[in-house]
Amino acid sequence: MIKIDQNKLPRHIAIIMDGNGRWAKQHTMGRIRGHKKGAQAVRTTVTACREIGIQVLTLFAFSSENWGRPDEEVNALMSLLEDYLDKETPTLQKQQIRLNSIGDIDRLYPLVKKKLLDVVKLTEQNDKMVLNLALSYGSRDEIVLAIRKMISDSQKGKLDIEDINQDLVGHYLYTDGMPDPDLLIRTSGEYRISNFMLWQLAYTELYFTDVLWPDFKKDDLLNAIAEYQLRERRFGLTSDQISGK
Ligand code: FPP
Repeated sequence: MIKIDQNKLPRHIAIIMDGNGRWAKQHTMGRIRGHKKGAQAVRTTVTACREIGIQVLTLFAFSSENWGRPDEEVNALMSLLEDYLDKETPTLQKQQIRLNSIGDIDRLYPLVKKKLLDVVKLTEQNDKMVLNLALSYGSRDEIVLAIRKMISDSQKGKLDIEDINQDLVGHYLYTDGMPDPDLLIRTSGEYRISNFMLWQLAYTELYFTDVLWPDFKKDDLLNAIAEYQLRERRFGLTSDQISGK
């Protein structure tokens, strides 16, 4: 049993779910079978986070660059998302999880977008956890969009340039109102951020594991949280300042 301290839980965990393709290759299956198995790992991880008491879980499910994958794979990922929304909604309701998305959802297939918005609406009063799906998401695009909105608001006289500070920029991002991730997990032994939450990850603890996403289990999550709890988060201060000496 992996022990974690319930008093030092990360409020927000973000995950780059990587390695579906390699998992499929290892099992001499096509990439799509890897994504299917990855969707199963999404289900177990969401439930595990809810059980542990995590407030926000952000999953990088589809990047803005993923649109460039072969049509067959993009179609499969869209239909897996649709399937997830169809089948998991009762669980989200039962577990009182609110669904939210970050990213350019206008690019999603219209039916998928509709289902997503329906579930977001249906679950909007749920208050035990936020499941934040990053879909058609790219962090640089998010920042560009925020800059455009700020300039537009300033031209309309709704925003004074003097008022632009870090908090205000945060309000213009998709993650407005959410705490920044405390812990980022990336699976499959890759050590990259891949255009994910660049602004929000400024002080996030990074955790990399060789486990391929489809093999990711509750114990892997607990290991990541246990490691996070050993880290000293200094936010640019000294160790003595943090410990109050
Ligand atoms: C990365 O593996 C994973 C993705 C690009 C998609 C993630 C999607 C899922 C986990 C399943 C569907 C999601 C939901 C929310 C139902 P990769 O294909 O880049 O793997 P590789 O690097 O080994 O090729």
